[in-house]
Amino acid sequence: MEIDILTLIPGAFQGVFSESILGNALKQGILKVNLISFREYGEGKHRVVDDAAFGGGPGMILKPGPLTTAIRDIRNTGKAAPIVGLTPQGVKLTQNLLREMSHMPRIVLVCGRYEGFDERIRREFDLEISLGDYVLSGGEIAAMVFVDAMARLLPGTVGDKASVEQDSFYDGPLDHPQYTRPSEWEGLSTPQVLAEGNHSKISNWRKAQGLLKTAVRRPDLFCRLNLGGKEKEHLRDCLVE
Ligand code: ADE
Repeated sequence: MEIDILTLIPGAFQGVFSESILGNALKQGILKVNLISFREYGEGKHRVVDDAAFGGGPGMILKPGPLTTAIRDIRNTGKAAPIVGLTPQGVKLTQNLLREMSHMPRIVLVCGRYEGFDERIRREFDLEISLGDYVLSGGEIAAMVFVDAMARLLPGTVGDKASVEQDSFYDGPLDHPQYTRPSEWEGLSTPQVLAEGNHSKISNWRKAQGLLKTAVRRPDLFCRLNLGGKEKEHLRDCLVE
């Protein structure tokens, strides 16, 4: 997959994109990211991209001209791609949305800054995505979140595919509790079933614990789960124990 990121601060991405799982995915070429500064499209000697709001009000607004020209340039080169604006007004980023988009060969992310976009820029967007109901200083952190979560879904990024499939939200419920050594720590012991080596029992226990956790912590998610007979059985067994 190829992701183009239009931003005023390409330097902000360097650290995040050079480390760990995401850094490896980029080095291996599983994912290619192009950082494009739309400052280059700014007007005049000072490359101006923003201006005061018509009608008054605090903060600066991204002018329609520079960003629209940048988006159109990108749209007209390379593979076809949806243009995605990162804004607090967008649809919420979810694992399902990421999964649907993970089959696309190319995605263009547009990061806003200042108090927002001139409304006329919005017609260039095929989709607007929000991280949640709060306001960030710009779309850069949202773009990093999008790229990181997307990279995990691309074959080869995470060595063990099962590890991605068991992530919270991949198939609905939250992830089950995880434990590692030592088995006794500060008076707390790890569940006996994990030490017994019975893989089918462990798998059933994990499924039930994931469901239980979802019911307690995220009843909204739990209500939307389509539980099959087997899952109800695991849940019942674990509640009886
Ligand atoms: N830019 C500013 N706030 C944002 C949010 N909540 N999500 C995505 N992009 C943003």
